[in-house]
Amino acid sequence: MLTLSIETSCDETAAAVVQDGRKILGNVISSQVAIHAEYGGVVPEIASRKHLEAVIPVISEALSQAGVTLDDIQGIVATKGPGLVGALLVGLSAAKGIAFVRNLPFVGVHHIEGHLLAGFLERSAPFPFLALVVSGGHTHLYRVDGIGRYSQLGQTLDDAAGEAFDKTATLLGLGYPGGMVIDRLAGEGNPGRYSLPRPLLRDGSFNFSFSGLKTAVATLVRREGDGVKEGEPLRDLCASFQAAVTEVLVAKTAAALADQGISRLVVAGGVASNSGLRAGMAGLSRRSGVELFIPSPLLCTDNAAMIAVAGDFYLENGMTDDLTLDAVATWPLPMVTRQRWNL
Ligand code: KG4
Ligand code: ZN
Repeated sequence: MLTLSIETSCDETAAAVVQDGRKILGNVISSQVAIHAEYGGVVPEIASRKHLEAVIPVISEALSQAGVTLDDIQGIVATKGPGLVGALLVGLSAAKGIAFVRNLPFVGVHHIEGHLLAGFLERSAPFPFLALVVSGGHTHLYRVDGIGRYSQLGQTLDDAAGEAFDKTATLLGLGYPGGMVIDRLAGEGNPGRYSLPRPLLRDGSFNFSFSGLKTAVATLVRREGDGVKEGEPLRDLCASFQAAVTEVLVAKTAAALADQGISRLVVAGGVASNSGLRAGMAGLSRRSGVELFIPSPLLCTDNAAMIAVAGDFYLENGMTDDLTLDAVATWPLPMVTRQRWNL
């Protein structure tokens, strides 16, 4: 089946044309990041308006990249949530409009479901697997028994990992969103120079907490002065921060794998493109024999191809949504399992 998928949950307007939920034929992402950078974060109302301007051109570009027209498309997929409702509504409405006029089957997909299946566009992970989703809004551990079959094992109790990267980058004067900048500077720094906390490392749960880590960096900056915001100290601080986040993520993931007796691991979401985390997870895989699946960096951050994986599966199995489907700001992933499979 050839699907057209649309994703507008945050600040990227994205559309993709995917064959059988596995092969990307067209994948277009229009980022608003430069617009929101001025405000130090995503401004929801601006995001909605920019999606409205970009959504049709982005869809057209995805179709032409794939060398197809709407006549060739057999199913329509869109992100239903979670995310900014005004932003989601733009992509969802465009998708429903196309499905209506073309009389095509339509389905709404969970954004996180998209992230954790994104790697299937390169190499499918056999079920069951453990998934760590680390993005701007999520730091969650799930057990995945099939498409649409998700159980949550743990989550962040405060900031998401990406949020911690972005807030720390802002307080170090590195701009927004600064996860990638910290990653780059950390690569040239000494992670042993500053001792930072490893929150909840040994609490026995599969939950995370990152707000204290950001506060620890703020306290260090106050104590040491603005000198730590430049040159070698800055690189060392970025490396120390990244090492702290990585150590907690790797340790909790290792514990969850052991608890579930699972030997396959998917790491997904924007922060999965972080080189320190990728190296840390590769180390875990080497030590434990767990098979590791991390998508290429371009498929880790928000895109529309990723939601086509689950979307194609649902459409092929007749699990469509009708055109009254609404966008949702919050939507725990395990609810998908109840809605799709009645489990
Ligand atoms: O998955 P994503 O694109 O959007 C959400 O669904 O949130 O994730 C965006 C997050 C941002 O917080 C961004 O700073 C972070 O992922 N991020 C990174 C890196 N690339 C993106 N964080 C650390 N290192 C990176 N290389
Ligand atoms: Zn995302």
